[in-house]
Amino acid sequence: RVGPIAVIGALEEEIDLVNAALCDRRTEWAGEYRFDFGTIAGTDVVVAHSFMGMANSAAATALAVARFGAGAVLSIGTAGAHNPALHTGDIVLGSRTVNDNSHMTAHRDRGSGSDVGAWEVMGNEVGVCGSPELRIEFFCDAGMLAAAQAVPYGGGRLVVGTVASGDVWNKEIDRIDALHRGRGSDCEDMETFSVAQTCWQLGRVPWLGVRIVSNSEHFPDEVFDVSVAQKCQAFALDVIAALA
Ligand code: 5AD
Repeated sequence: RVGPIAVIGALEEEIDLVNAALCDRRTEWAGEYRFDFGTIAGTDVVVAHSFMGMANSAAATALAVARFGAGAVLSIGTAGAHNPALHTGDIVLGSRTVNDNSHMTAHRDRGSGSDVGAWEVMGNEVGVCGSPELRIEFFCDAGMLAAAQAVPYGGGRLVVGTVASGDVWNKEIDRIDALHRGRGSDCEDMETFSVAQTCWQLGRVPWLGVRIVSNSEHFPDEVFDVSVAQKCQAFALDVIAALA
């Protein structure tokens, strides 16, 4: 790998621990996006505060790679469970990601309503050898995944899975089940797909999702708990050390 490891996180609570671990920390801004630089376990790291969502995380990833030379990218932070076997505190190593924003609907006449369950998945256009191609999924870097899988985690289960991303917070269980069964998603966030798509477009930069379950509609008491992002970051720090 050439260049620093980029850590992309949406919320301050999802990156504060990683930032505090940076040796010789210095900060640079690109507009509203803050990038913190330093070393962890002797390797260069750049931490992006991307804010929430697909466009923000794509922009932050593009800057991390194209302006700051990142050679590997981690999408870290919280996620909502789709897989009913997952609970708050479990970490999903996002090896695959799908886009929950990209749809084409069939024509329906005025007055006949909207049926999200019937929406067709429409791929995202990316470049393949200079030509456009539609992609509905991206896969992580196998080496980064293997390194992360070997890192011990005591805060819950550590699983490999699929992250569905979109500028949407799904709480309808039928919708969640449809994504889980139809598209193989284990959890959802608002960043991992757009991070992966940007990595693809900027030269197949290796990436991995490290997402901690912070809520599950399958269990009424598992409401959003951002504090689990601390455990996600502690784990991500160990992943960075393993990659270093
Ligand atoms: N749906 C969508 N995003 C979620 N996040 C945590 N849980 C969910 C969920 N159930 C993450 C997103 C975003 C922020 C709101 O928290 O990635 O950055």
